[in-house]
Amino acid sequence: MTAPTTGGADQEQLSQRAARQFVTTLYGALRAVRLYPIENATVQKALAELMAASDRVTALDGVTEINRGGEFLFVNGARLRLGVDNYAALAYLLGQFRAAGIGGFRCNERPESREWVVLLSALVQPPPARDEGDGWQTFARVIEQGGVTRIGVLQPNDDAAADEEPDIREKARRTYLRSLDVSREMMTATRLGRTPNLKRVKRAVQGIVDQLLLDEQSMIGLTTLRDFDEYTFVHSVNVCIFSVALGRRLGFGKTQLFDLGMAALLHDIGKSRVPNEVLNKAGGLTDEERQIVGGHTWQGVLVLFGIPVVSERPYRGMVTCFEHHLKIDSSGYPRILRDRRMSLFSRIVAVADGYDAATSARVYQDRPWSPADVLRGMRENPRLGFDPLVVKAFIALTGVFPVGTLVTLDTLELALVYAAHPDPANLARPVVRLLTDGQGNFLADAPAFDLSTTDATGAYLRTIIRTEDPDRYGIRIGDYFV
Ligand SMILES: [Fe+2]
Ligand SMILES: [Fe+2]
Repeated sequence: MTAPTTGGADQEQLSQRAARQFVTTLYGALRAVRLYPIENATVQKALAELMAASDRVTALDGVTEINRGGEFLFVNGARLRLGVDNYAALAYLLGQFRAAGIGGFRCNERPESREWVVLLSALVQPPPARDEGDGWQTFARVIEQGGVTRIGVLQPNDDAAADEEPDIREKARRTYLRSLDVSREMMTATRLGRTPNLKRVKRAVQGIVDQLLLDEQSMIGLTTLRDFDEYTFVHSVNVCIFSVALGRRLGFGKTQLFDLGMAALLHDIGKSRVPNEVLNKAGGLTDEERQIVGGHTWQGVLVLFGIPVVSERPYRGMVTCFEHHLKIDSSGYPRILRDRRMSLFSRIVAVADGYDAATSARVYQDRPWSPADVLRGMRENPRLGFDPLVVKAFIALTGVFPVGTLVTLDTLELALVYAAHPDPANLARPVVRLLTDGQGNFLADAPAFDLSTTDATGAYLRTIIRTEDPDRYGIRIGDYFV
């Protein structure tokens, strides 16, 4: 069979797909080797899949090379895009490569299956390095002694900064990933008419609360990974993270933070009662469809009432389901007939929800707003109906330029807001990563820079002059937070 002729873009898509498949099968094979003896059928099957995937990559690109650069994985020089489906694989591979002290490996010729086995076993349990920094040499020696000649080990090429505190960031990543899983399971179960496993949901929320108390900035950074197909379950996790972080600013104790996190994670559970074709409809909705979507508020209450009495019902979550699209003057939806005051939980979730929704690209909003513009709207436009005090706390949390904002500096460098400044006096001077030099050339390692840094005379070295649209520069913000 001859391959169809394809244009450059198609070719790139094919390569990207083959690369993703290669990474997934590599991950699958590593897990199999970790769990079973080599002769086991599961290992053999995983091995065959890995070899086929590697063949496909080689057929397309002429070689199979996988390499880590900082916090990304590259297959034949192309950075792998992140998705929910390969998130676990990428995180695991990055972790093992780092533990082995290697950059990656390259198949010089087509490796035999026994060579793959040696490589996989060494990756599952990296040999201890003799000296700091020579891990890759030890690793290369070990697989060479195992008879591997067709696979070459690549030296790591990243600087120490990219490896800073891998443990704490790794933990944040795992917590986030687990929560995504739970959130997806919860939505799918309810959609199928089953009761969601509340125990798992509680554990996920507990994990988010603990992680936020430990390291708020890593968790907030992960909310920028918005480029997923399925919107609702990622959104629920993000709203949970923002809400708990907000609650913390407002002085909540741990138990209250947990209750708030539960309410936030469940706030859109009523969407599982909205038909998918209405929920994912591109273009405008009819009045009737808008009614149906809006009904996710009270539908959420019904879903939570459906949870059997044996486990306690999340009553505060019900209130938040019902109220989170209300405005501070009780307009908004659903229509309220009697005078009522939004609960504090609902006012918090409304701000977190409004922020995450406006900054995400979705079917009916292909161009998300920049985080800084969304904050400005929330603060300056009373018609949006957010609680001004909660918005103020939110800005104190994110800074004037929230994490994930692309900005131009007065040096004409392009930079990405990476973390809010720890000192609240520096709301407009976050920590950034410098993406380009003043001429617009991209920097490979995107070094971090604290914008509150001054020279000897006290003048700031760099200052944000404006925000930018990442699409214009072809930048995927989430890639920098993996
Ligand atoms: Fe909602
Ligand atoms: Fe929402």
